[in-house]
Amino acid sequence: MHGTLHKEIADQATKMFARRCNALGLGVWSCLGQTLTDQRVADEQTPQDTASSDHAELSEKLAAVREQLQAGKDALQLDEQACAAWVPDPDGPFEGFVLTSTASRSAEELNALAQALAWNLADLRRIDQDQFAVDDLAEQLGQSYENITMLYSIGQSMSSLEAPQHLAQGICDQLRMTQGYGWSAARFAKDAEDATGLNDACLIAGAIPCEANAFRAATGRLLESFGDKGWRKLLQVEQDELATLVKSEVILDPIRHDGRVIGVVCAGGKTGPDPEATSGDTQLLDAIAGFLGAFHENAARFTEQKNMFIGSLEAVSAALDAKDRYTFGHSERVAMLGMRLAEVIGLDAEEVERIRISGLVHDVGKIGVPEAVLCKTGRLNDEEFEQIKKHPRIGYNILKGIPKMADVLDGVLYHHERWDGRGYPDKLAGEAIPLYGRILGVADTFDAMSSTRSYRAAMPREQVFEEINKCSGTQFDPSLTGPFLGLDFTEYDEMVERHQGATESDLGSRAA
Ligand SMILES: [Fe+2]
Repeated sequence: MHGTLHKEIADQATKMFARRCNALGLGVWSCLGQTLTDQRVADEQTPQDTASSDHAELSEKLAAVREQLQAGKDALQLDEQACAAWVPDPDGPFEGFVLTSTASRSAEELNALAQALAWNLADLRRIDQDQFAVDDLAEQLGQSYENITMLYSIGQSMSSLEAPQHLAQGICDQLRMTQGYGWSAARFAKDAEDATGLNDACLIAGAIPCEANAFRAATGRLLESFGDKGWRKLLQVEQDELATLVKSEVILDPIRHDGRVIGVVCAGGKTGPDPEATSGDTQLLDAIAGFLGAFHENAARFTEQKNMFIGSLEAVSAALDAKDRYTFGHSERVAMLGMRLAEVIGLDAEEVERIRISGLVHDVGKIGVPEAVLCKTGRLNDEEFEQIKKHPRIGYNILKGIPKMADVLDGVLYHHERWDGRGYPDKLAGEAIPLYGRILGVADTFDAMSSTRSYRAAMPREQVFEEINKCSGTQFDPSLTGPFLGLDFTEYDEMVERHQGATESDLGSRAA
């Protein structure tokens, strides 16, 4: 960038200088290297000076006298018609200028004029340099501002730990756009213990000039080859595999977690007037790699806590299901069926996960129902049934104080509501029943009918399907029964088998 900027300003100063010389009736010839430049310097807005016709002929003579002038000679008389003087240009792009004047001016006069114009040119060059420094500073400030804004917005978005890939992708996008790279990427190493969602991820912004799979493989090998130490921050074409693959210099920085390298952030294909990586680029990438490392640590901790929390809930639900050998594994099966139904009706991944968690804990309120009622082998009397009907509300009350569970409460509270308004606890009807409640309602009833209960044997699959069809629009949301019955129940059947095996071996060990 500097080169171009400087040249533009230098050209402007040269034009200004030429305009002033022309205004004084002088010809101006720029000199660079061993010869005069081929064109006489003149601003296009300035009319040709009065001696123009002579100057073409003078050009050859000028080349010859230039050395003498440069060596410090005063103005030289070229012939009767013209004389020439030298104006050095030590701070500009030229070595100097030969000034020519017609006979109306003596060599001494031209010499004095050349002296004054030399000072004038030096001033113009100094203004150029100052202007250049100001522009350069303004540009650096502008870039710093953009970098700070980007780092700030990355910092802000780091609090959303639930979608780590989305955040890392956003960082790559911002890096590419702010810095003028053709592409940028964040590549995370493969690590079986990493459950952050970034494990083995390769997030790319922009268009990489190679196959995505080849890029993925090359960045994977890069992580293996550099390991925890010895990272170079710049890769070159024909020297390094990745740079050769993408056909441009690659700037990179390792992402660390607890001192261990867990990924790399890299960028290439930089365009614009200054395509080479600057120290500013390196520093920025270093800061971004630091952010991604810190984010990974947070995401890992968050995932660990979330898993621990859900694990505890699963344990509580499973313990409740296990109180009664006939309901063993019920919550896990309802969670799986609810999740599959949510997928089929097109809910997004986050909602599908919420339905799963909601299914896992939907009966947690049974903890408040006496065991004698829960495990009763005969039919329940009205009073006992009233006690059972309290479990959605009890479950809701248990979970509502936990901030992370706010999104799954609907499934817990409303999984026993009916489409026709005859369910419990609130007798909601139709779409007034939250979707999670309607989804889990179908899954819950399907599992209850499909498994043996203390008071009746399991119903055959066809009969269960028939019942669900029959109750579509009365008990169940009619828009859900079709998609539900279209599910593949292989996974469900395997689960039932596993749960039955577990209860039988449990009963066997108790008997022993
Ligand atoms: Fe229930």
